[in-house]
Amino acid sequence: MSDSILDLFKENQEKAVVDASKKLRVGIIGTGWIADAHMESYKKQPDVEIVAAADLVDGKAEAFMKKWGVEAKCYLSHKEMLDDESLGLDAVSVCTYNRTHAECAIYALNKGVHVLLEKPMCVTLDEAVEIIKAEKASGKVLSIGFQPRLDENMKMIKKIVDSGALGDVYYIQTGGGRRRGIPTPFGTTFIEDKTAGIGALGDIGCYSLDMVLNAVGYPKPLTVSGYKSDFFGKQPSTYPTHPEYADKFGVDDFAAAFVRLEGGIVLDFRIAWAMNIDTPGDTVILGTKGGLRIPSTECWNGSVGGPMTLYHEVCGQQTQTTVPLVKTEGGLFDLKIRSFLDACKYDLPAPVPSSQILYNQAIIDGIARSSELGREIELEIPEV
Ligand SMILES: NC(=O)c1ccc[n+]([C@@H]2O[C@H](COP(=O)([O-])OP(=O)(O)OC[C@H]3O[C@@H](n4cnc5c(N)ncnc54)[C@H](O)[C@@H]3O)[C@@H](O)[C@H]2O)c1
Repeated sequence: MSDSILDLFKENQEKAVVDASKKLRVGIIGTGWIADAHMESYKKQPDVEIVAAADLVDGKAEAFMKKWGVEAKCYLSHKEMLDDESLGLDAVSVCTYNRTHAECAIYALNKGVHVLLEKPMCVTLDEAVEIIKAEKASGKVLSIGFQPRLDENMKMIKKIVDSGALGDVYYIQTGGGRRRGIPTPFGTTFIEDKTAGIGALGDIGCYSLDMVLNAVGYPKPLTVSGYKSDFFGKQPSTYPTHPEYADKFGVDDFAAAFVRLEGGIVLDFRIAWAMNIDTPGDTVILGTKGGLRIPSTECWNGSVGGPMTLYHEVCGQQTQTTVPLVKTEGGLFDLKIRSFLDACKYDLPAPVPSSQILYNQAIIDGIARSSELGREIELEIPEV
């Protein structure tokens, strides 16, 4: 039988054709490390024109555009760029460090521009609330940059929970981390309080939280007992070539928490940029009918770390099933950019909605506050 006849039995996997008759005019705010990934993906989209970039560092946006061979206007702040109405901006990527996420996102939304905001959403719960108020008032798309959501293995976690195979979920253990891996390849913006605001907790912890909270439908967090520390970040020996970074370290390098969620689920969480062990363990979701083990040590890399195991009962027999890894078609960053653009063009819901990430941010904020107080706290999350 010829291939063409056999192909008729394959699933129709034709890619959607992008309508490029109207180009979206996009600007990039913050031209540091992650802006490269945004630019690379935008350049692949036939319906996008990158028209502007802004960075607080003089000449940085210009150098960025030159590197990518893009002719665009450059500015010294998000305000200057968004105030320039001649640009006719449709959308921006906010690729700044965490401390300026809120001001950039709010300013853009107030100007009537769609926003793709890098993770973590921001630093505090109050900021998240203000961002969502601006989003609601603008009617524009705001999506938060959690590209692992688009990975097929990550989607499988949610499919398994939704299938009912686990029964009622009552306990989740999640997290990940590195034995040594405080991120300073491009300077100190990840480790200084004035730029990052939160450390491992916001940088990689937000991914672990999103992985499991998304799977169980983002129940509202109710209470948090949190802990954070900075034993490695504050040590000059952590930075053999830059011992002076130790004095600049102003965030957490490890965090842990016990969180109670609406619906009777408890969440046991830990995350590390540095610790004296290779992994804080797998993610585990326990339900009344089954349990799921997810290798998650490096979940911030976009996928699960190996095949998952489903523990269940068949005709009274306790058994387990390996859930094989599946391949995701297309790069996760390309999928993140494409899904954001489609939401902007066709008035679709945000691919990663702020209403969910509000709870992610509330937990992060709660861990920081509970750790400072040294006791469990109740979370008060305003209705926005
Ligand atoms: N989704 C991912 O996979 C991923 C990966 C890495 C980083 N990130 C996130 O991306 C964000 C940026 O990370 P990075 O590594 O690129 O940081 P970076 O420090 O390399 O770059 C941030 C840039 O933003 C600029 N900036 C800050 N405030 C600004 C403002 N108001 N106007 C214009 N420019 C401004 C800074 O001058 C700097 O050049 C962080 O929040 C980080 O968590 C996401």
